[in-house]
Amino acid sequence: MPFDIASIRERRPENHIYYFQTIGSTMTEAARLAASGAAHGTIVLADEQTAGVGRFGRQWHSEAGAGIYCSVIMRLKLPPNGLPIVTLLLGLATAEAIQRTTNLSCDLRWPNDVLVNERKAAGILAQLNEDSIVAGIGINVNQTSLPENLRTPATSLRLAAGGHPFSRESLLVALVDSLDEFTATLTERGPESILRAFTAASSYVTHRRIVFEGNQGPKKGITLGLDGNGFLKVRDESGLVQTVYTGGVRPDFS
Ligand code: BTN
Repeated sequence: MPFDIASIRERRPENHIYYFQTIGSTMTEAARLAASGAAHGTIVLADEQTAGVGRFGRQWHSEAGAGIYCSVIMRLKLPPNGLPIVTLLLGLATAEAIQRTTNLSCDLRWPNDVLVNERKAAGILAQLNEDSIVAGIGINVNQTSLPENLRTPATSLRLAAGGHPFSRESLLVALVDSLDEFTATLTERGPESILRAFTAASSYVTHRRIVFEGNQGPKKGITLGLDGNGFLKVRDESGLVQTVYTGGVRPDFS
């Protein structure tokens, strides 16, 4: 079933929503709209993506009618080094919306993979344009199966809830509400509040054995918390404290 777009528009009248049954990627359309001056809170939403993109140029599986595939234009007054904090904020908002709508508990894998039962249920791509951020959010909602060959094992909210389907409309509305709430937190209480909230919501930020991308390939270490810009501090196996800037992390089960 396609989105009931009228009910979403009724519940979120303040957002301008561009809706597509099929699109290549919502990121491309949102970037185009942002460049032509679209307002903060403008949303590009699709039922299906034929060329959905993930982080590091990977593909984002975007089955028709099963997930949420959206890109939100954000215009925030940020310092030059503010994007990583917004990246964390987007993960927090997505996890909060999922928890409120489904009662499933979420974990956040730095910087912003949303995990349910250790599997990835949502992914986020934040792109900084000249004067805006395009926040691409993909949530696996009602898929009954997902490709097995993914780098991180994936799940959908429906699979995680034993087959119970969820309203994509309610989840999208909760997501946009939650984005507004965390954005207000950042603006009113500053980046520290987002760092604290992320640290509390993620099992990856402290005392976690992980594998991360070092300068010369994968390295193992134990997480030590976030620095002031939202990057992850890690003590590597030789005892050196390193900062992970990009690349994401995975658990070290060895
Ligand atoms: C990741 O690799 O974890 C990020 C995935 C981001 C996917 C979303 S779906 C909506 C938006 N459009 C895209 O093509 N990608 C993002």
